[in-house]
Amino acid sequence: MCGIFGYVGKRNDAGALAVEGLKNLEYRGYDSWGIACKTDGVVLIEKSTGKISTVDSNDFRESCSLAIGHTRWATHGGVTEFNAHPHANGDQKIAVVHNGILENYQELKKDLMEKGHEFLSETDTEVIPHLIEEYLKQTDDFAYAVRMACKDFDGRYAFLALHTESNTLVAARRGSPLIVGVGDDGYFVASDIPAFMEHTKLVQYLDDGEMVVTNGDNIIFSDLETGDEVVKREIEITWSIEQAQKGEFEHYMLKEIMDQKESVARAVNQNEEQIYTLAEAIRNAKGTFLVGCGTAAKACMAAEYFFSVIAEKHVNFAPASEFKLYHHFLLPESLLIVVSQSGETADVLEAMKIAKSKGSKVLAIVNVEGSTIDREADYTLLINAGPERAVASTKALTGQMAVLLLIAYTLADKTQEGKRLLLETSSKINDMLNPRYVEFVESIAEKIQEKSDLFIIGKSWNYPMALESAIKIQEVSYVHAEGFAGGELKHGPIALIEEGTPCIALVGNDEVKADIISNAIELKARGGHIIGISPENNEVFDEWIKVPDAGAAQAIVNIIPVQALAYFLAVKRGKDPDMPRNLAKSVTVK
Ligand code: G6P
Repeated sequence: MCGIFGYVGKRNDAGALAVEGLKNLEYRGYDSWGIACKTDGVVLIEKSTGKISTVDSNDFRESCSLAIGHTRWATHGGVTEFNAHPHANGDQKIAVVHNGILENYQELKKDLMEKGHEFLSETDTEVIPHLIEEYLKQTDDFAYAVRMACKDFDGRYAFLALHTESNTLVAARRGSPLIVGVGDDGYFVASDIPAFMEHTKLVQYLDDGEMVVTNGDNIIFSDLETGDEVVKREIEITWSIEQAQKGEFEHYMLKEIMDQKESVARAVNQNEEQIYTLAEAIRNAKGTFLVGCGTAAKACMAAEYFFSVIAEKHVNFAPASEFKLYHHFLLPESLLIVVSQSGETADVLEAMKIAKSKGSKVLAIVNVEGSTIDREADYTLLINAGPERAVASTKALTGQMAVLLLIAYTLADKTQEGKRLLLETSSKINDMLNPRYVEFVESIAEKIQEKSDLFIIGKSWNYPMALESAIKIQEVSYVHAEGFAGGELKHGPIALIEEGTPCIALVGNDEVKADIISNAIELKARGGHIIGISPENNEVFDEWIKVPDAGAAQAIVNIIPVQALAYFLAVKRGKDPDMPRNLAKSVTVK
């Protein structure tokens, strides 16, 4: 949610670096963009509505070795040039880019206005440079003034600030991510690693309540509250630049769907000792809860079935945003399993806070190593899917489900059986995702692209996949899509089925197969056009998208053609699947 980027160092093309860095953060927001460059004692700010991807970095080649930039997902104030970041104080000497929400900005703004400050935007962010200006009346030390200002803020933030009178880049973090890239010729500070990965793979993580001050030669991390210096390790990241790029694909979404040829196997490749320890923790816990948001929440829902069917173990799923009222059930011996691609989702972090306040332990299943959730959890399992850039989550979901299924098998003392099943499934996915298959899915998208409504049904672990299918289709193609448990349709939604309404049935060779086929027959009797996603054909299907038979891993396989269908529906309807309207990939606000 909003991407921020800063550079200070020996290079004199900091503005261009900021433009290129922000292009790699566009998945975090793409309403508007802006750059501030400090050059010859002045701060030059350029900003605009629209996408940073359309900006040519050659237009930012003027000599500058200190710059900050922002790509926005609007929260406070509409999408206008005035509301775009960077924001500056009255005399334009201090510029700030910010990710997060300052909850008390209205009070701060009122106080500042009484002191004569004038505001140009509707944002919460604009109070930051004005407040820093106030503190600079008491000190010459820019970093100290930033630290004092932070003491007045309530809410979540990560921001970068620069000042005409100082050659330093100052950054502070409370609740939203910030990572330092240690370059050969300067320092980068950004919301996420892809922003500077082209320049360095050495990183240092800021923790909540910390700030960093760098002049490009030196860097000092300190505690926002006390000002005490904090020593940081340099960590080398393992992702490659190629993994983070689109390569031959037109969109990240398609690339990431195709990445599932290998990513499921990478997720399964876990340290067995660790999996045993975690299974033991679940076995001994007084209550295990599973939370996530959006697509990750659907992995959690599927896992409820995995744990029930494979390990005969009851776990409790709740969307992270609904977890607050579960705190009555939490004990110090309870376990919270959180699932998140980014490791930064605000509602998930909130759920962790609730669990920790009750003394419960937290297990995280995340994709982004070093993310806040990774660092704040008691145990972490990484799914190793590689960078996921498209807003619509695809390979992270299948990786999350693979890890959860492996844990369920371990809990049932069948780790090797689970591993074998998942590795076989991975190789079946590899075979399935061949060019002819993808073209076939595209041809189905071609047939239904004009339809305005679409329904998806599933049972057992295919029920959460029906819900996930609806999310995928809605978010990228804007077609009205709804997922249901097959048996629920006749209790209401079946009234919506008309002649030719596309209905996708997610089927497996399992104990609920006959039931879901009956549900498909009920839909067909009302005119539904049935698209079966199933290992075997059935006479009720008008279209059949064949998937390999994957036993207990069927949900992992069945969702993949729907991801591809959603992708092609978006493209055929002229939408950009990587940057769907109104959405952002990393949701760092509640
Ligand atoms: C956003 C994204 C979704 C994602 C959800 C949870 O809404 O658009 O694709 O599933 O956040 O994100 P997380 O990073 O916690 O998995």
